[in-house]
Amino acid sequence: MTFTGKRILLGVSGGIAAYKAAELVRRLVSVRARVKVVMTRAAQEFMGPLTFQALSGEKVGTALFGPGSDPLEHVSLGQEVDAIVLAPATANLIGKLAAGIGDDLLTTIMLAATKPILVCPAMNDQMWANPVVQENLDRLQARGFQVMAPESGDLACGAVGLGRLPEPETIVEALARLVSKQDFAGRRVLVTAGPTHEDLDPVRFLTNRSSGKMGYALARMAWRRGAEVCLISGPTALAPPYGVERLMVRSAQDMLKAVRQRFPKVDALLMAAAVGDYRPTHAKARKIKRGPQEEQFQLTPNPDILKEMGALKKRQVVVGFAAETHDLEDEARRKLAAKNLDLIVANDVNRPDAGFQVDTNEVTIIARQGEPLRLPLLTKEEVAEIILDRVVELLTAREQGTTGA
Ligand code: PMT
Repeated sequence: MTFTGKRILLGVSGGIAAYKAAELVRRLVSVRARVKVVMTRAAQEFMGPLTFQALSGEKVGTALFGPGSDPLEHVSLGQEVDAIVLAPATANLIGKLAAGIGDDLLTTIMLAATKPILVCPAMNDQMWANPVVQENLDRLQARGFQVMAPESGDLACGAVGLGRLPEPETIVEALARLVSKQDFAGRRVLVTAGPTHEDLDPVRFLTNRSSGKMGYALARMAWRRGAEVCLISGPTALAPPYGVERLMVRSAQDMLKAVRQRFPKVDALLMAAAVGDYRPTHAKARKIKRGPQEEQFQLTPNPDILKEMGALKKRQVVVGFAAETHDLEDEARRKLAAKNLDLIVANDVNRPDAGFQVDTNEVTIIARQGEPLRLPLLTKEEVAEIILDRVVELLTAREQGTTGA
């Protein structure tokens, strides 16, 4: 898992959003990160160090000097951890970091820090709009700090505007990229996910059981590993993965149009979408009325998106999925060859704990050469990680001029 064994330093400065930092610690601990919290003096006016200590299980850093302070922490902490997150980061803290001031434990740690830093500003909307704050953030970004823009909404001061700290789950997502290997950095990945809706009339459509979870997991993990990701999604209830560009489509024809447009610019296409193989030949413009007689519908085959991309591909790695109820590996191999794919992920959809809708999956990854990789039951994120490992192997082999097939 992305955060297992990773050490995160959370710097909390003095704003009302400090209460959200407690939830951030809880979430990070729940994904198995080890969290060390350091608070500014002003942060301690809003939240007690004991809260953070109880949630993180680690002593909280509160002062450079005095009883209980560690004489070396101000140098070592920012070098020992895997990543640093400042949440909330006040205008004052941002200003001190930009100016290189180290006048308390947190700012001194930051002066000596060598690890990736995520700054999450939260403040009043007028403070956020102040050019000096923006200039300071520009300076931090120019020095390699990642800045997560605040959200718009009701602020504690009563105003409505930009300045709210993003939700802890969003901060965890942004942080996940900072602690992940960046083997997809500089690479573009296109993922499809979810079902398609093929209209019968204005209120009814043909669809399937895909929730989008497998494709969204692929998009999320590719982004974490440094890729620029575009996710073309059929209708789902899932939130867009952080950092990923999401294009919503409805029908197979819409999906084909979007994939065609993006495909030439990407390094890899992963098609986890369950594309409808057929659409009603004549979608009715008006709602079909109930009657005593049988209704007959004629179906027209949809275009095979993956097959078209397989035929067009040049340097791209193209990955398909095969959702099967029988002859799993034979059917998958047939699709691998027929659609000119580099990899196919064979998915037995008879099982209740794999395939559609659930958070787990059990798949076999088949390449054009070599033994199939039969995986045990894993979470969809774990499956996505292993598929991406194979994709990056193929991309690297192509870049180095070996086949990698
Ligand atoms: O979304 P979830 O609930 O998480 O479920 C995940 C999943 C079961 C949908 C996923 O793991 C999966 O197996 N996706 C592929 C489903 C599918 O449509 O399989 P297929 O065997 O019918 O198609 C083979 C491949 O061709 C697929 O990559 C599909 O995207 C593609 N295809 C299919 C038909 C078509 N007209 N155009 C296509 O591009």
